[in-house]
Amino acid sequence: MNCRTSLSSWQALTTSSERLKKQHLKTLFDSDSGRFDKFSRHIPGVLFDFSKQLIDDSTFEQLVSLAKESDLAAWRDKMFAGEKINFTEDRAVLHVALRNRANTPILVDGTNVTEQVQSELEKMKGFSERVRSGEWQGYTGKSVKDVVAIGVGGSNLGPQMVTEALSAYADNTLNVHYVSNVDGVQLAQVLKKVEAETTLFVISSKTFTTSETMNNARSSVNWFLESAQDKSAIAKHFVAVSTNLEKTREFGIADENVFTMWDWVGGRFSLWSAIGLPIALYLGYDKFVEVLEGAFEVDEHFKTAEFEQNVPLIMALLSVWNTSFLGHTSQAILPYDQALHMLPAYLQQGEMESNGKHVTFDGQTVPYTTVPIIWGMTGINGQHAFYQCLHQGNVIVPADFIASVEPQVALGKHHDVLLSNFLAQTEAMMAGVNEEQVRNDLQSKGKSEEEINELVAHKIHKGNRPTTSIVLDKVDAKAVGRLIAMYEHKIFCQGIILSVCSFDQWGVELGKGLANNIEAELTEENVAYEHDSSTAGLIAYYKQKRNK
Ligand code: F6P
Repeated sequence: MNCRTSLSSWQALTTSSERLKKQHLKTLFDSDSGRFDKFSRHIPGVLFDFSKQLIDDSTFEQLVSLAKESDLAAWRDKMFAGEKINFTEDRAVLHVALRNRANTPILVDGTNVTEQVQSELEKMKGFSERVRSGEWQGYTGKSVKDVVAIGVGGSNLGPQMVTEALSAYADNTLNVHYVSNVDGVQLAQVLKKVEAETTLFVISSKTFTTSETMNNARSSVNWFLESAQDKSAIAKHFVAVSTNLEKTREFGIADENVFTMWDWVGGRFSLWSAIGLPIALYLGYDKFVEVLEGAFEVDEHFKTAEFEQNVPLIMALLSVWNTSFLGHTSQAILPYDQALHMLPAYLQQGEMESNGKHVTFDGQTVPYTTVPIIWGMTGINGQHAFYQCLHQGNVIVPADFIASVEPQVALGKHHDVLLSNFLAQTEAMMAGVNEEQVRNDLQSKGKSEEEINELVAHKIHKGNRPTTSIVLDKVDAKAVGRLIAMYEHKIFCQGIILSVCSFDQWGVELGKGLANNIEAELTEENVAYEHDSSTAGLIAYYKQKRNK
């Protein structure tokens, strides 16, 4: 594969970036009253406004050409067809098969995975309904009140984020608690709140080897047995979600209590699989299906919309434009919706684990910045924390602002206040406040010329800070499905355009392997690996202090 920098669209964009770096967004708005109409798109339930991004007509055309020259359509079709586009792990990439509501066959190595998905969904439906109705009983004959969902990374963030996003729709049937950290504090806090006889543990791990999850799972079994005193009771209180039946058996979970996933589901794209079981348990299976339906709508849009209209693709092109051409190496995700408070953390894994790579498809060093640092928090809280830097700092941080028209909870004027902030912030970031405006303002407040001269530089806001506004009709199950699928396809497109393999995570594997070695050094006799002097010193210090 040719390096992207040799494409004519890449070169045209490089030239355009020099021109646009000298442009101000406000000038672009002042000179084109139709800018909002031109640079905003609708998909069902979503308004996507990218008119406050630093692009003009020709840049947008060049970005679309970049997608075409990167063979994006062919790659997209390969993904949907189940081809093994995760070539470094020799795997298909089929999270779209998990929400293929049309049930069209998709073949991987000659097997129709749609049938496998359907049968697993049926199993989730039956199980979640039995637990929620009280038919599933624990070892004392009582029904389940609490679910403890144990998993980390993709086996935690997706379900927990969706659970938080949709908690307004939960009935009081079950409580769900998430445990991801191997720091015993988290598990201990959760176990304090629950009773063994009414608790169901869902152990989610694609590999069933992840040390954090396995340690939390083992400690949970030990805690449970202190009450149950009978290993046969485990079958009524522990279920697993995994691809690895051998390991789930070895752990002691009966096969019928294991929900399957497949190697063609990447961890960070897995909430649509049985990894989403805690969502179905908490909200009911039908709500889980609504999440799948929302995502499926976006899959269809992504598959069929022209590039100029294709929202996930435009999201990716803007990210590449901001990062690789304009040089902004950070991106904020700012939901103006409490329900979406975990979205930044979720997207941090989605984007950075996928596209934080240093070589192109053919193993050459990438000559441009790939993924920006993704971070953020709810916009309102961010306003009182880091927005000062977004407005006047000397780094520019492009940001996605996300809000909904209808609140989940209508409370007096609250939603209008929230939305006023959402609208004001992007306007201020775009337009800024120039010297003349500052002077006029200070004069109107009766400041002397001397005072004005002292203050003016401090009060200037240069503006020209790119933002995208995503407005959902309402944060409901379908909307959450749509929103996540938009970002998933964005990440896919970004990877193709940047020519990086989005679906492996060798960097994470490296850390896992090293931690396993050091764990052995800390917990077993006579195990020692070679380390640099700092790591060796830290290990020795810890062991000496710990053993005192
Ligand atoms: O965080 C790294 C990672 O490899 C993710 O990709 C994955 O979601 C997570 O670990 C957990 O892995 P597993 O589901 O196998 O426990």
